[in-house]
Amino acid sequence: MTGISGKAVAVAGASSGIGEATALHLAERGARLVLGARRAERLSGLVERIEKAGGEAVAVTMDVRRREDVVRLVATAQERFGRLDVLFSNAGSMAVSPFDELRVEDWESMVDVNVKGVLNGIAAALPVFRAQGAGHFVHTASTAAYKVVPNQAVYAATKTAVKVLTEGLRQEAGPNLRVTLVSPGFTNTEGIGKGGSPETAAALVAQRDAIAMPPEAIARAVAFAVEQPETVDVGEIVVRPTAQG
Ligand SMILES: NC(=O)c1ccc[n+]([C@@H]2O[C@H](COP(=O)([O-])OP(=O)(O)OC[C@H]3O[C@@H](n4cnc5c(N)ncnc54)[C@H](OP(=O)(O)O)[C@@H]3O)[C@@H](O)[C@H]2O)c1
Repeated sequence: MTGISGKAVAVAGASSGIGEATALHLAERGARLVLGARRAERLSGLVERIEKAGGEAVAVTMDVRRREDVVRLVATAQERFGRLDVLFSNAGSMAVSPFDELRVEDWESMVDVNVKGVLNGIAAALPVFRAQGAGHFVHTASTAAYKVVPNQAVYAATKTAVKVLTEGLRQEAGPNLRVTLVSPGFTNTEGIGKGGSPETAAALVAQRDAIAMPPEAIARAVAFAVEQPETVDVGEIVVRPTAQG
């Protein structure tokens, strides 16, 4: 299957921000969506919007930290649409803080969601993609995977891990699977400033409000990777606001 229309796409982290914008964009272009996240009411609202616009979507309440939940996300695509063409592992936590604050629970949660969540996606979808002889992993990293700045070391480490895992997966994927890393810079979402140290969060929110790009910028980047011919693999896309240094 080529292009976007008709593809079954599962999005982990679809209830807001980049995941929501990408789901809407791909649905507009004819993809069939499985929408995963923890906030069930946000997901059902999104399903409603997609269906009202003539698209197809189903919600799965899930937590990427639980392997069985991610397996359920993938299985829902198979049950509802007969296959899974794309897994967009986008769920993430940006609970950033200075080391001195020792917010160890935030560190653990970023490792669990950002790194283990992506690994759970690989474990759930890889056997399905192998059996189909086709499939596309799209993972959300960050410009933090390219440039570490103070107060963001743990977050940057998790996103660097996502970048490395994605490249390793690409090398092992073989000729039939595709693997794409999408790295956003400052994007205008509710995830910025959520959790972490209040001072760091406030600084990030101020920066977001000054320079961030809309999440649709990342949705278009994901669509670009998905719509390529099956033998073309877009490995990495970095998209940042022009004002970001
Ligand atoms: N905004 C930026 O500037 C920026 C820049 C670079 C990278 N990113 C990355 O982009 C991705 C999306 O973030 P965003 O900016 O769009 O923020 P967001 O609006 O907060 O979106 C985060 C999404 O992840 C989901 N999520 C979080 N923890 C989860 C869990 N344990 N299980 C399942 N879903 C979970 C959230 O849904 P629930 O809360 O409903 O579970 C939500 O749908 C993240 O990986 C983030 O690190 C963002």
